[in-house]
Amino acid sequence: MEILTALHNRVSMPRLVEPGPSDEQLTAIFQAALRAPDHAMLKPWRFLTIQEEGLNKLGQLFADAARQDQPDLSEEALQKYLGMPLRAPMVIVVICSPKEHPKVPEVEQLLSAGAATQNILLACHGMGVGAMWRTGAMAYHPHVKAGLGLAESEILTGFIYLGTPQGTAKRLPLLTQSDFVREWS
Ligand SMILES: Cc1cc2nc3c(=O)[nH]c(=O)nc-3n(C[C@H](O)[C@H](O)[C@H](O)COP(=O)(O)O)c2cc1C
Repeated sequence: MEILTALHNRVSMPRLVEPGPSDEQLTAIFQAALRAPDHAMLKPWRFLTIQEEGLNKLGQLFADAARQDQPDLSEEALQKYLGMPLRAPMVIVVICSPKEHPKVPEVEQLLSAGAATQNILLACHGMGVGAMWRTGAMAYHPHVKAGLGLAESEILTGFIYLGTPQGTAKRLPLLTQSDFVREWS
């Protein structure tokens, strides 16, 4: 796919089914992520892939975290948390691991993690793999972070749901450039 076509047409695909990305596609996806712009080459990111039984375990982490916050959580709500990660055959967890550096503040390292994530979304789009970037309260919950092995200093910047897209991609008009862009002199 031509790069500008990919950039202009990428959309999130919320309905994702089996199969997930192949090993070859995953390699292409992560090679794209690892080419994110990165001030001082700190490589301030790492990734987890979660599939199959791992998705059930992630759902359990979500449910346990929610129950910690609200011990009287209804059975229905609990089931919702358990089922959240099952919305796709694979979830990539994007983690920003900020490094101490005299010239590179944490915000720049977070931006680099965001750029890596956008590269993942674009690589997926280019190969016909459906993807959607999600966070929500679970991304910031200490129980979920600890269960996934994040250090205190690390930031979970996204759960990227991946799979075969179901349904047709929404078509969005390009936004009006002049609403967002001005010349400054
Ligand atoms: C950091 C970040 C977190 C997001 N978290 C969620 C989320 O938890 N749930 C959700 O429905 N959309 C979330 N989104 C938005 C979707 O990923 C998507 O960008 C949005 O629905 C617009 O769709 P589009 O990507 O097709 O333009 C998030 C986006 C970003 C950048």
